Amino acid sequence: MTENTKLNRRFFMKGAGTTALLGSAIGSGLVIPTTANAKGMGHTSMSMAYDLNEEFNRIGSGDSKWDGIRRRARPFDVPFPMGVADMDFRTLPHITAALMKRMAHQNWGYQPAPADFYENIIAWNKKRYNQDVKPGSILNAHGVLDGCLSILKLHNTNGAPVLIQTPGYSGFFGVVRNAQFTSVENPLKLVDGRWTMDLDAMASQIDEHDVKVMLFCNPQNPTGNCWTPDEMRAMGDVCLEKGVLVVADEIHCDFVNKHVKYTPYAALGEKYAMSSYTLKSTSKSFNLAAQHVAYLFSDNMEMIDNLKRSGHQRGSLNALGMIACNAAYKHGATYMDDMRAYIDGNCHFLEKFCADNMKDVKYKTHEGTYLAFIDCSAVAKKLGDPEEGKRIGDMLQRFFIEKAGVNLNPGENYGANGVGYMRMNLATTHRKLHGALNAMKAAIDAI
Ligand SMILES: Cc1ncc(COP(=O)(O)O)c(C=O)c1O
Repeated sequence: MTENTKLNRRFFMKGAGTTALLGSAIGSGLVIPTTANAKGMGHTSMSMAYDLNEEFNRIGSGDSKWDGIRRRARPFDVPFPMGVADMDFRTLPHITAALMKRMAHQNWGYQPAPADFYENIIAWNKKRYNQDVKPGSILNAHGVLDGCLSILKLHNTNGAPVLIQTPGYSGFFGVVRNAQFTSVENPLKLVDGRWTMDLDAMASQIDEHDVKVMLFCNPQNPTGNCWTPDEMRAMGDVCLEKGVLVVADEIHCDFVNKHVKYTPYAALGEKYAMSSYTLKSTSKSFNLAAQHVAYLFSDNMEMIDNLKRSGHQRGSLNALGMIACNAAYKHGATYMDDMRAYIDGNCHFLEKFCADNMKDVKYKTHEGTYLAFIDCSAVAKKLGDPEEGKRIGDMLQRFFIEKAGVNLNPGENYGANGVGYMRMNLATTHRKLHGALNAMKAAIDAI
């Protein structure tokens, strides 16, 4: 039995509790169980090594997604929190084992990244995406948004508005504000059900506002688009012609549905790589957001050197975060493959459920990320006007919490053209998703 199999079986053994886990990881090393509860969702492409159907209880850890919304929604219960973009699955067992091992030292003095940390980042990107990350070009960041903040401060020298395609990740607007800038929304247009770039409008907006930096998301949160090379090349050409830096947030790149291929923006060619930064992290892929470990890189070493000099976060990261990230990239390939297949299954399930049972909600299986941007405008219409001072998305959020126990994020959080949409996090068990959809359907039917 390989070390991988031992760990997988150990961690997903039915009923294995934290105490047992701690004991075995810290004490005698990694114990091989005699029984296993390893099963996937039935996809033939899944390894069956990880029990993604496990009803893993997150309540009580103090997290934002479960404990946070349940506190805020009182007196209503929220058995289906599908807002905050993290996952309901137990993390990769190798990560927990590596953390336990490190914890057992009880020594928290200064510590650099593990010796093979950068090597593993490079190998992950090369093996999975054929992306060449230049050794020496990788900078640590406490989070992808922290990296964006440093880049904005260095590059947005004229203080111009920062360009964001919308609907676009809500955190982008926040980080632009953190950097003391404003943003300009470049709306994506719905063409045959797919959110599509409007490059003519983008070119005019760049000219009008003298834009110097664009925050770009691939795969895109919240639309779920995984941009094609042609789409990105056309966009990149506008940016190159007008001297706009592309900040490519590719944090969701590990989540791409089966019918789609992720192409890194920087892999389009030298001129695109030299005029952009890429930011990634294990935080989405392995549910490590609270570990605060991310990285950024660029082929343009002058930009990397300038960023270092400009006061971008010094030194290494939290030791546990680096250890977690390292274990993820070293041992997480099969876990990630399984995760992709599982999320793909959830997307198709959602599409079919809406088409068959919940026609007031419109959704077609998206391409990347575990986030579905569902069209709830027909539900909003049935509910009528929102209260004074509230948005349609606020009304929809409240309705789904109070009547179905489901938390979704309002579409307006992602830009003006998100109105009528809600973002639904599908990184949960098939069973929870089914429960949430049944509850939503019952609530809508009762309006
Ligand atoms: C596109 C995108 N970028 C960045 C982040 C946040 O990353 P971090 O927590 O590493 O700052 C998120 C989280 O939802 C995201 O969806």
